[in-house]
Amino acid sequence: MRPVKHLIPEFERLKTRLPPGHDATLLLPCLRRIQEDRGYIDNSDIDGLAEYLGVPRIQIEEVLSFYSMLRRRPIGRWHLQVCRNVSCSMRGAEWLLEHLSERLGIGPGETTADGRFTLSTVECLGACGTAPVLMVNEVYHENLGTADLDALIARLD
Ligand code: FES
Repeated sequence: MRPVKHLIPEFERLKTRLPPGHDATLLLPCLRRIQEDRGYIDNSDIDGLAEYLGVPRIQIEEVLSFYSMLRRRPIGRWHLQVCRNVSCSMRGAEWLLEHLSERLGIGPGETTADGRFTLSTVECLGACGTAPVLMVNEVYHENLGTADLDALIARLD
């Protein structure tokens, strides 16, 4: 078994929750766990998971290309994800993105040279009522104004 080998005991425990013959439904939780472990999902992880679950590699690639929260390459310590969907756009998401780009010196999809920040844009984060929304790693920051944003960035080491 390839690099996912050390996670197999955890995957096996997940399997016990499923009816027999439904192993492929573990794909998403396994990918999330691999990402937690490595920080991203490497090609070798895909090969290992395909072998473990007995699914075609293309099935894993399809899942990876659909879910923006699953990453194929390393990112910075702080992942700043700006929602650019309708509600957030109407309430200042473009400004938020521009401000972050200027302050960090990077554009969407880029990581600062010191590896601290990666900036991304995402579709609706499901918090439209408190737009604009910025997600930092797993935490939502809502109703952001200039002062809030600057204070937030200053707190991230
Ligand atoms: S549009 Fe941004 S959270 Fe829904």
